[in-house]
Amino acid sequence: MTDTTNDPVYVTEALIAEDIDAYLDQHQHKTMLRFITCGSVDDGKSTLIGRLLYDSKMIFEDQLDALTADSKKVGTQGQDIDFALLVDGLAAEREQGITIDVAYRFFNTEKRKFIVADCPGHEQYTRNMITGASTADLAVILIDARKGVLVQTRRHSYLCHLIGIKNLVLAVNKMDLVDYDQAVFDGIVKDYAEFAKSIGIQSFTAMPISGFKGDNIIGPSENTPWYKGPNLIEHLETVEVLSSEDQAKPFRMPVQWVNRPNLDFRGFSGLIATGSVKPGDAIRVLPSGKTSTVTRVVTLDGDLDEAVAGQSVTVCFADEIDCSRGDVISVADTPPQAADQFESTIVWLNDEPLHVGRAYWLKLGTQMVSATVQQPKYAVNVNTMEHVAVKTLELNAIGVAQISTDKQVVFEPYADNRTLGGFILIDKITNATVAAGMLQFSLRRAQNVHWQATDIDRNEHARLKNQTPKVLWFTGLSGSGKSTIANEVEKSLNLMNRHTFLLDGDNVRHGLNKDLGFTEADRIENIRRVGEVAKLMVDAGLIVLTAFISPFRAEREMVRSLLPEGEFIEIFVDTPLEVAEARDVKGLYKKARAGNLKNFTGIDSPYEAPVNPEIRVNTVEMTPQEAAAHIIRQLMPLK
Ligand code: ADX
Repeated sequence: MTDTTNDPVYVTEALIAEDIDAYLDQHQHKTMLRFITCGSVDDGKSTLIGRLLYDSKMIFEDQLDALTADSKKVGTQGQDIDFALLVDGLAAEREQGITIDVAYRFFNTEKRKFIVADCPGHEQYTRNMITGASTADLAVILIDARKGVLVQTRRHSYLCHLIGIKNLVLAVNKMDLVDYDQAVFDGIVKDYAEFAKSIGIQSFTAMPISGFKGDNIIGPSENTPWYKGPNLIEHLETVEVLSSEDQAKPFRMPVQWVNRPNLDFRGFSGLIATGSVKPGDAIRVLPSGKTSTVTRVVTLDGDLDEAVAGQSVTVCFADEIDCSRGDVISVADTPPQAADQFESTIVWLNDEPLHVGRAYWLKLGTQMVSATVQQPKYAVNVNTMEHVAVKTLELNAIGVAQISTDKQVVFEPYADNRTLGGFILIDKITNATVAAGMLQFSLRRAQNVHWQATDIDRNEHARLKNQTPKVLWFTGLSGSGKSTIANEVEKSLNLMNRHTFLLDGDNVRHGLNKDLGFTEADRIENIRRVGEVAKLMVDAGLIVLTAFISPFRAEREMVRSLLPEGEFIEIFVDTPLEVAEARDVKGLYKKARAGNLKNFTGIDSPYEAPVNPEIRVNTVEMTPQEAAAHIIRQLMPLK
């Protein structure tokens, strides 16, 4: 079983990659359909998958024996085999009767090979379902004929639609338990059609089936003479797969790596996302916009006359143009856009909620940039599809929010291109995948605001002041002594003829940041603004001292990343909580303990101490003057 807790999309894919390779080798000539089954144990999902595997002869004889024995044990009557036993590999599932992970299974028929993602259906497993659905061409939405369209049916359909699955099969299961009654089937289809239309699902294929008895799974069932549509396997074998749709689109290939074994060969390797490419094609490399012509399309098995979406190739150009990992090679005349601000739909996958304003890694195809998410415009209630106002996104929440990236991202709207429109967000400190998302469109302001180059640059400012600008970033609890020590350090620097400026938390909060309080989101925004101001001042040639609690590691690292290497000096004013509280210079600890001051750092709001600060001062052992002298010594020689 695969572990999806860390990096659902990529880890799962990586773990099964070997199995898939072996499997694909065996069935090279066949097309492949990836699909997902949605429903809960009660809907008969495991039984249906077991049936599919059984009917396509994927069960070996000895497994069958074991199965019959098992079925007897759990009391299945008569000749019928309990197919759920075959599929429910997880011990936990057998014990608790629920599926708790995404399981991928392979099977094949004469015409096609299949990979089916089996995801749990409960609301708390939304993230598993999104993971399984993200690579699927088709979804089988299971309905229990006795129960009809339920809240979960709507939720599953919405999620599949959201993730861009165009082929939906409404499998009305357990028809045997409603005497194969056409009226029951028709009623459910009518209900579902109404709902589907309301959320923008354009079409679906409904089938009356019984996974348990095998009706309309492979071949038409005698029990449903009134049903003239396709049976399930026939439909799965003939429905159009994503890759063939993708082949008709313009050529795009994200570059995975530059292949340069020797001086005579230079090619760009990747998986073709959409379209096709052949020698002689005019291409453009994004985001640089440089153009060239394809000379060769190389694979391990030799050169190709043409390669199409879904193939991994190495492309060579006629000209020596710049192109590296993360770039996108496109057909020259209709390239994708590049932007740094987007409207996006985000599915939150992590236990820790979204921190609005915090910088995460955004991975889109082979591109990796730093990105921040604004407060969501709304979240979607996945059971009612209502929009609800939210401040953040919690585990399994789906919301619409604006995203800004620190660099241009080459993209296409997700609806047009899953590869160039789908992304994941990664926590910079824990490396966990925290969200999956879909880019909708770029915001126009991103296209109309450009960086203005100025002639007198940061070096010129610094040269005139005869110093190397830097930021001395003091962090520590309230009352730890940051402001006092920073003030002492500034006085010393001043005596040394250095041009300085001290930004202090309490002071900045009287002006620039007077709209901010002490919630987590406000503190993140506080530090973001201070970081930007400090950067401007460094550009102006100053040595900037900042005294802010700055309780979160992620934001301190964010400011560090704004500056050139070596210009961010983190100074940890290390005062234990008991000491700061005993001093209680402003009387705030007392207030906080009495419950009259909420979100107070150290009391009911966290402080994440630096792991590896450039300088650390212990205020229990040193006076502020000694601490300042220690810092100055550490900074020497001051260029
Ligand atoms: S930060 O967390 O966003 O970095 P900042 O350094 O700007 O905080 O402001 C901290 C100062 O605000 C404290 O020194 C204290 O005087 C005051 N303050 C008022 N309320 C709080 C609170 N809830 N938590 C921490 N400091 C507070």
